[in-house]
Amino acid sequence: MPTNPVLEGLPSYFTQSLTDALEREVLIDLSVGDPHEPTPEPIRRALIDALTPESSYPSAAGTAELREAIAGWMARRHGVEVDPDRNVLASAGSKEAIFHLPLAVIDAAGPRRGVLWGTPGYPVYDRGTRFAGGVSDPVLLRAEEGWRLDLAALEPDRLQRSAIAWVNHPHNPTGATTDRTHLHRQVELAREHGLLLASDECYQEVWFDEPAPSALEVCDGDLTGVLAVVSLSKRSGMTGYRSGAMIGDPDLIARLRRLRTTTGTASPSFVQAAATAAWRDQDHVTDRRAIFAEKRRVVLDFLEQQGIEVSGSQATFYVWLRAPGGDDVAYADALQHAGLLVTPGRSFGEGGEGWLRLALVPTLEECHLAVQRWAAAIADGRVPT
Ligand SMILES: Cc1ncc(COP(=O)(O)O)c(C=O)c1O
Repeated sequence: MPTNPVLEGLPSYFTQSLTDALEREVLIDLSVGDPHEPTPEPIRRALIDALTPESSYPSAAGTAELREAIAGWMARRHGVEVDPDRNVLASAGSKEAIFHLPLAVIDAAGPRRGVLWGTPGYPVYDRGTRFAGGVSDPVLLRAEEGWRLDLAALEPDRLQRSAIAWVNHPHNPTGATTDRTHLHRQVELAREHGLLLASDECYQEVWFDEPAPSALEVCDGDLTGVLAVVSLSKRSGMTGYRSGAMIGDPDLIARLRRLRTTTGTASPSFVQAAATAAWRDQDHVTDRRAIFAEKRRVVLDFLEQQGIEVSGSQATFYVWLRAPGGDDVAYADALQHAGLLVTPGRSFGEGGEGWLRLALVPTLEECHLAVQRWAAAIADGRVPT
């Protein structure tokens, strides 16, 4: 049987080896970005109430109620008015939206097949590109530039070869944030060079000092050439529900609508009902943020006491630190023997070597326990300093 060489060439998704390790030992898992806090009760209730005896196919675009709730949230949270019919499309989480987006944009036989994305970064920008026949074009991100991808730093030729530029703020894995000036520059440059600016805003509700901006805020009401991808996973503790949305350029939304009746990736109707309840409420988001802030304080205080350098880490529930001794894999290994599972930076691609990502997903008590274990391992020399 023939096989797709893109699939054959993929390294295993980094979470798989971590999951294998977790099954072997009793570890505190600071690796995968799946927080333990429960989904708020009213959201679970909305799902149960929507579970009808009869089953029918869900709406691929998202129900009108869901798209209205998303538009309402966009207006409240970001001050951007969008049309639920022309600018909003539901997705089954942001991962599949990111993966499928190039299928609606890239002409695999055309000259503009490049997709720009920052490395270290979320691997799905690359994977979606390659399966769609595009050319993955990673841009090295640097600590001294705040881990931001800046289109202004790229050669015009490179922009002209590209169909899509991904930005991701707050950023996985570094937790770095951006500001409206930087985002505005990206929108302007993408438009000038005729490529789509795709903004992965999966973590935009997990901020601490200042609310994270959306790329849609800097478009002056004209969403041409810009798409924001948002998610309930981190915002509302709904990773298992699979619910997100795409918001932006009306022409692209129309194309994606056509595409997505084919991909069969709509969330079930009862998930869409739960998602509608989630987008309508902001209080639970504030509560969750307060919990993440507490956990973050525990870990940041500990790292500061130990003199371990932290970079980015202004938002998200990730903390990004320089691996003492310089070898991220060796340090993650040593921590695993001390009972802590963390992700070596290189798992997120080039530019991540020498760094580690902690996902503050265990409970607050477990975070306290994690830093105790870590401190004990440092004290008796089991991890390098
Ligand atoms: C940067 C980034 N984008 C998108 C996603 C996908 O999230 P979901 O599919 O749960 O919305 C993740 C998941 O961890 C992520 O880190």
